[in-house]
Amino acid sequence: MDYKNNPPRQFKDIKEMDKKEAQREIEGLREGIEYHNYLYYIKNQPQISDALYDKLFRRLQNLEKAFPEFQSPDSPTQRVGAKPLDKLEKVRHTVAMLSLNAALEENEVKDFEDFIRRNTGQTYPVYVVEPKFDGLSIEVVYRDGFFHYGATRGDGEIGEDISSNLKTISSLPLRLQKMNHRDLPSFLAVRGEVYMPKSDFQKLNKDRIERNEEPFANPRNAAAGTMRQLDPKKAADKPLDIFFYDILRIEGQEFNSHWEALKQFPSWGLKTDKHNRRFTSFEQIQQYHHQLSEQRDELEYDIDGIVIKLDDYKLRERLGTRQRSPRWALAWKFPPKQEVTLLEDIVVQVGRTGMLTPVALLEPVDVGGVTVSRATLHNEDEVKRKDVRPGDKVRIARAGDVIPEVMERIDQPGKKRGKEFSMPTKCPVCGSDVFREGAYYICAGGLTCRAQLIGHIIHYASRNAMNIDGLGDKIVKQLVNKKMVQDIADLYTLSIDDLLKLEGFAQKSAENLYNAIQATQKVRLDRFLFALGIRHVGLHVAQLLARQFQSLDNIRKASREGLDSIREIGPQISESVVRFFQQKENQKVLEKLEQLGIEVEDMAPSKEKMPFQGMTFVFTGSLEGYSRKEAQDLVEEWGARVSSSVSSETDYVVVGENPGSKLEDARKINVRTINEKEFNELIQKRSQNQ
Ligand code: IVH
Repeated sequence: MDYKNNPPRQFKDIKEMDKKEAQREIEGLREGIEYHNYLYYIKNQPQISDALYDKLFRRLQNLEKAFPEFQSPDSPTQRVGAKPLDKLEKVRHTVAMLSLNAALEENEVKDFEDFIRRNTGQTYPVYVVEPKFDGLSIEVVYRDGFFHYGATRGDGEIGEDISSNLKTISSLPLRLQKMNHRDLPSFLAVRGEVYMPKSDFQKLNKDRIERNEEPFANPRNAAAGTMRQLDPKKAADKPLDIFFYDILRIEGQEFNSHWEALKQFPSWGLKTDKHNRRFTSFEQIQQYHHQLSEQRDELEYDIDGIVIKLDDYKLRERLGTRQRSPRWALAWKFPPKQEVTLLEDIVVQVGRTGMLTPVALLEPVDVGGVTVSRATLHNEDEVKRKDVRPGDKVRIARAGDVIPEVMERIDQPGKKRGKEFSMPTKCPVCGSDVFREGAYYICAGGLTCRAQLIGHIIHYASRNAMNIDGLGDKIVKQLVNKKMVQDIADLYTLSIDDLLKLEGFAQKSAENLYNAIQATQKVRLDRFLFALGIRHVGLHVAQLLARQFQSLDNIRKASREGLDSIREIGPQISESVVRFFQQKENQKVLEKLEQLGIEVEDMAPSKEKMPFQGMTFVFTGSLEGYSRKEAQDLVEEWGARVSSSVSSETDYVVVGENPGSKLEDARKINVRTINEKEFNELIQKRSQNQ
């Protein structure tokens, strides 16, 4: 059976198989699946449909289940599913993972070139130049072509074993491909960089903010945090990728130069970057540096410079290494997007969840083409650590689209300094008490705090919450600023005439918004709980609470212990829920809502009432209004199953932009396809029936 070039579509009944047969098929499937993974992720040339891939994968899963004696950690079925760890084990690297000498100025690069020429005796030494990826540096070890383990760089000598998390990265091969008739090395330790694509990073942060979770500061932190995560399931749903750029040690095979090795990498299935080049002159390198620094913002991953490496291994050996860095390589960093400016004041901003953030007000300055007049200082500890005060000169930096940040204070000896910053004990917006949670200060004002109110109402109206069409950011700001709405209950007292007073409103639009608000008088408990915007209560937690407690009254009365006893609900969530319902102001708002006739429906204890119970959805192509995950979560929460392939059991195939082969599959077997508009209608209809 040729699982690579002609994988079977029909399989023998597992019950009729003996061990030998099963073992042979399992091995064939594993090899085949990894090969198709390689075609898909590395070559970008899939040769089988997603449906067939899924079929092979499921067959392998079923066989491994029926013959557990053949289970193996390097099976593609084991990419996800490893158990959470207590801690990450330490591992000593095969060889020390060195760092790079870095240069910022052209002169330093010229010096490096001179040094290389003098010490190699070559007039035109060959260099390989590569982007310097700004991710997490890792070592991956393959034995006889099989993934053995992977580790973070750590201190260069000893890192942490992150094998289970690494295995969740789809483009990382679990076995090396055997191409161009070369044998596989018996041992291979390679170095690479794990990164999170920028667009995925933005999406992830947006989701985190929606779920009341702390966003990551930049893609590198997101990648590093994910890789050092103890539960591989949590790593599995993060979109990470990896580039390889160095051989740490190899046995059973040899290369003469770095370029030769880099060319071999993709044939093994190890992804390399397409910007790698070979040059012989400073001018070429200089041009490359310039070009990449211009392209930098358009790349899908963060880079912070280029790396120049002498190509020839023998010459490298002759030059040797310093204590922590090789003499034959140099990182040429890009000029940072940084500027020095005057810090005029530090103010405290209150976010939607009540978090107080110190913000630096700056004398406006151009940083990499963008005028910056505010920069975040994150939290009080950061302000203390950096010791910045009004009147100080500070260095600020902007990384891509990320919010500008105050990096450091520039010392000005002899200059009289301003007052030290401290967090206010009362909310600067509403005067409520401020309490501390870890490194953060939170305004206890809840729904009555004006700063929080705008954010709250936007959240209350959002799609997964009350879904009030037409109540967007701009309108909410007007409503709050004109004092037409002081809490979410006031939304229901707005008349059409009131709405006509808003900018840009005419009779029809006012009527529409009025109707949209009134349509939410009756609401499901889980949606309502989520809509309240309680800290740490995202969509999922709201659902857990609703299912467990079944009525708003029960949740109001719930104790910390009662809440804690629910699986997946920890002390932080229960604390936050209890606090929310204890708050007098919140109680008042809830009472008002009740008096205005808002009806929060009890949840039925059985799952039978779930609108999509028993249905199967398949998604293909991208939707405009939802990320793939949002759409999947939405239908799953209502009882549906999401499948990755179309079968006769599929109820709906939701077709977005640029659909894949699943659309064809659906047509072939006459499964109902719906577009995004129809999908929205379906959701609306079902949620109203609830
Ligand atoms: S080569 C001995 N190549 O930059 C040379 N490093 O201190 C080993 N990095 O954390 C490094 N892109 O992880 C090399 N194309 C590239 C790189 C790269 C990013 C990282 C590396 C290390 C830091 C250098």
